[in-house]
Amino acid sequence: MSATYTLDTSTSRANPTPAPIRRLTIPGLRARKVDGVTAEPIVVLTAYTARQAQLLDPHCDMLLVGDSLGQVIYGLPSSVPVTLEMMAAHGAAVVRGSYHSVVIVDMPFGSYEASPAQAFDNAARLLKETGAAGVKLEGGAAMAETIAFLTARGIPVCGHVGLTPQAINVLGGYGPRGRDEAEADKIKQDARAVSDAGCFAMVIEGVIEPLAAAITAAVPCPTIGIGASPDCDGQVLVTEDMVGMFERTPRFVKRYADLAGTIGEAAAHYAAEVRARTFPGQDQLYQPKK
Ligand code: KIV
Repeated sequence: MSATYTLDTSTSRANPTPAPIRRLTIPGLRARKVDGVTAEPIVVLTAYTARQAQLLDPHCDMLLVGDSLGQVIYGLPSSVPVTLEMMAAHGAAVVRGSYHSVVIVDMPFGSYEASPAQAFDNAARLLKETGAAGVKLEGGAAMAETIAFLTARGIPVCGHVGLTPQAINVLGGYGPRGRDEAEADKIKQDARAVSDAGCFAMVIEGVIEPLAAAITAAVPCPTIGIGASPDCDGQVLVTEDMVGMFERTPRFVKRYADLAGTIGEAAAHYAAEVRARTFPGQDQLYQPKK
C-alpha cells in the first residue's frame, strides 16, 4: 500500500479504505520474493491490542503478536514467563482489530520445543482461538523438524534466527550475534535449515549487517530484519519502541514519535486541572433536562 491513510474516528477504519479489502495472505507475502528479489519490502510491526491493531493495520503487511508483550505489556523481565493464554488473548484482540494485514502469533517459550506433536497441539490452539494465519517460533536447525511437521499439517511458520530472546538464559545477554566466524557460520546454517524446513519467512534479529544481507541473498523465503540489514526483504520493530514509549532506545530502533512525552504531558495537565478543580468543566457535565 502506498497511499497515505487517516483514521475515520467514527468507524476506527482507515480512510481511504485500502484496496484490496481482503486480508493479505501468507502465500501472497511469501510470493513477494521472486528469484531472490523482493521488489516491495514487507512492512511488519508488533501489535498486542485491538486498538493498536486498528491504528497500524492500514500501514502494514503483517502484524506480529510478539511475545515481547511480556516486557512491554506485563512488565516481565524477559519473554521466558509468557504463557500460551497471554498469546491467545492478545492474538484474538489483534485479529479483531485488523482486516488487512496478515496476523501471526509468537509461540511462547516452553510451548513448542519438546516435540513436533507438542508444537502442533499448541500452534493449532493458537490458530483456533485467535483466527491468526500463522505462528512464529525461535530457533534454527534444532527446530527444523518441528517447522516441517507444522507446515505439512496446515500451520504456516515464520522462523526466527540470530538473537533469539527466549534463549536469554543460554545467551546471557541481548547483544548482537555473529561477530565471530564460528557463530556467523552457525547462524547461516540455522537460516538455511529453517528455510529448507518450509518456513514462509524468517525474522533475523540482532546480527551483524553483512551476515543478515548474506542470509537474505542465500535463502528463497523472505527475511524480516530487526537490528539486521536494510537488504532484508522486510523490517519489523516493536511498536512501543518505534513510537517512543520507552526512554531507552536500543541502537537498532528508530523513534518515529515521542508518545511517552505526549502521555506524560497529558497526565500532568489532567492532574493539574483536577487539583485546581477546573476539570471537569461545563462541557463535560450533565445537567437536568430543560
Ligand atoms: O516478540 C517480538 O516482538 C519479536 C520481534 C522483536 C521480532 O519476536
